[in-house]
Amino acid sequence: MPENSDSQKLLLATLRGNKSDQTPVWLMRQAGRYLPEYRDLRAQKGGFLELCYDADAAAEVTMQPIDRFGFDGAILFSDILIVPHAMGQNLWFEAGEGPRLAPRMVESALSSLTAAPEHFEAIYATVRKVAARLDDKTTFMGFAGSPWTVSTYMLHGQGSKDHAVARKYAYRDEVAFSELIDAIIDNSVKYLLGQIEAGVDAVQLFDSWSGSLSPAQFEKWVIGPNATIISRLKDVYPEVPIIGFPKGAGDKLAAYARETGADAIGLDETVDPVVAHKNLPADIPVQGNLDPLALLAGGDALKKSAAHILETFSDRPHIFNLGHGIIKETPIEHVEKLLTLVR
Ligand code: CP3
Repeated sequence: MPENSDSQKLLLATLRGNKSDQTPVWLMRQAGRYLPEYRDLRAQKGGFLELCYDADAAAEVTMQPIDRFGFDGAILFSDILIVPHAMGQNLWFEAGEGPRLAPRMVESALSSLTAAPEHFEAIYATVRKVAARLDDKTTFMGFAGSPWTVSTYMLHGQGSKDHAVARKYAYRDEVAFSELIDAIIDNSVKYLLGQIEAGVDAVQLFDSWSGSLSPAQFEKWVIGPNATIISRLKDVYPEVPIIGFPKGAGDKLAAYARETGADAIGLDETVDPVVAHKNLPADIPVQGNLDPLALLAGGDALKKSAAHILETFSDRPHIFNLGHGIIKETPIEHVEKLLTLVR
């Protein structure tokens, strides 16, 4: 990407620490089921995974929220479970329930898996198509799940509320768990480097379940692996910003920001913006953190929450976002209202 075109990207500049009088905005899960055009294309293609692995369709879905709302950032349409799929686990989505993975790594050896790197190639094809379509103002973001979060799915074979199987395994079988985490790190680094080579401007690491760990486990399995991934990406692409999103990190947020080397910190909706602003390093950009339910509710709840977040981060580089993914029942008009409020 030539430098003169980069300089027009407000979100990218903000991730690099520039403060502008305009706050860039995008929403986690902005390409998804709250959009009728998404639901149509998904029905046509037969399912979510079919959509992910069809580069033309996935590029189209990535562009849908950009074409409709003009967000400052486009996020690659894919899923964090593509990494376990490429590592050789079977992956499918049960209608109305969610992801399933087999064999469950709590009872299978890593060495029994046969890698399927063609799954990564399909995603890189999507990245190239989107990069060719985006204008020079919109920042293009890739992503991966962080190792702890991805391991919970690989071990349980599905989503779980308390991640107890994974937490128990990490205590009881630390050597095997550590090998699993290392394998996820290696694959995630490879995958993110591939996304960057194919054309993304920045990447986000989703540690959606970091909130379920004790403080010592958080140091070991959240901060450690995220720091390793970030340093390995920085060795190759020091100029590509990395957003860390340790959902539910609570008291550990400042340690995460200091110790992982992430360029920007994603805040979930449980974080008090005033406290985050006080506790985080002064110059680090933050992203967030409107409650997805305030966006769904609209009206005063939306106005007041958005204004408070904008006001609190008014003298720090800030990217407006939700604290977690947009909820599928969210009215389109509330998203439009939010954009008016931010801009
Ligand atoms: O943000 C975006 O718009 C980019 C695409 C994206 C998706 N998933 C698309 C998706 C991203 C960044 C993700 C991340 C993801 N996937 C996470 C971490 C972020 C988070 O929300 O905590 C997790 C834990 C997953 C795993 C996953 N994928 C789950 C638990 C589910 C939900 C299953 C369901 O049916 O609700 C998915 C499916 C999924 N990923 C959908 C989308 C748009 C819905 C699929 C559909 O039915 O159309």
